[in-house]
Amino acid sequence: MTHIVLDDVTFTFGAEGKVATPPVLERVNLGIDEGEFVVLLGPSGCGKSTILNLIAGFERPLAGRVASNGRTIEGPSPERGMVFQQPMLYPWLNVWGNVTFGARMRGTPEAEYAAQAEELLWQMGLLPYRDASPWELSGGMRQRVALARAWIMQPDILLMDEPFGALDAQTRALMQELLLRTWAQRRTTILFVTHDVDEALLLGTRILVMSARPGRIREEIRVPFAYPRDAEALATNAQYGALRAHALHRVREEARRHLEAMQPLKVA
Ligand SMILES: Nc1ncnc2c1ncn2[C@@H]1O[C@H](COP(=O)(O)OP(=O)(O)OP(=O)(O)O)[C@@H](O)[C@H]1O
Ligand SMILES: [Mg+2]
Repeated sequence: MTHIVLDDVTFTFGAEGKVATPPVLERVNLGIDEGEFVVLLGPSGCGKSTILNLIAGFERPLAGRVASNGRTIEGPSPERGMVFQQPMLYPWLNVWGNVTFGARMRGTPEAEYAAQAEELLWQMGLLPYRDASPWELSGGMRQRVALARAWIMQPDILLMDEPFGALDAQTRALMQELLLRTWAQRRTTILFVTHDVDEALLLGTRILVMSARPGRIREEIRVPFAYPRDAEALATNAQYGALRAHALHRVREEARRHLEAMQPLKVA
């Protein structure tokens, strides 16, 4: 079943008249099925975060419709969880307090969320740190806390905005594995933004390559590799090499086009 739909969505930040640029998004059409892992790939500024913000309900389209399970999205909801590039933990709460924050705000009794929180902390390798404060954790650990915090709300969809972008390569690889494992168990629908073609090919069932200004879906790439996927095995797969080269070419082409469009002709 189709979970998320963007139907002819146009979006601007209301700067028309002040800035002579096309809308941020123009007539974007996009459907995400339940349980899919869709990756948005595209140059900086093409509107990837804007699409997540529209689905999260933080922004409203200028024209068109954004819907979840057939209902128009009117505002934020715990059904749609967001994970940002920077984990944004509450500094005055420890790991346990951060992970269980949403459940407590909802008024869920501790007996109902405690076992789930413990399970998530165990999965994320954070059980020994349940009483630690955010500043006592590494970047990767903080991001795992943010993931556990998003997942404990049992969202229908997780919106992930370059969640591993600030991590070193080894930690990122571990986080990717962890995310794939958790997704395999829970089958939450995921929309994941990244700049990294290898990350996109490792994680996604489908990759949407965006063009910039106006932001549109330029190309859809169905990723043919079966799960569980292994980065090392993929690296030696001939089909992987060809897909990777194709995706890289597309993204670079769009990035170049975007830069040129943002560089008005110089007067000699
Ligand atoms: N708060 C804002 N007010 C006005 N314009 C904005 C605002 N946020 C973003 N924009 C504009 O919208 C465009 C799309 O922004 P968005 O953050 O969605 O891009 P992105 O694809 O996520 O980029 P990046 O990869 O750099 O994160 C940008 O080019 C920017 O000009
Ligand atoms: Mg962004």
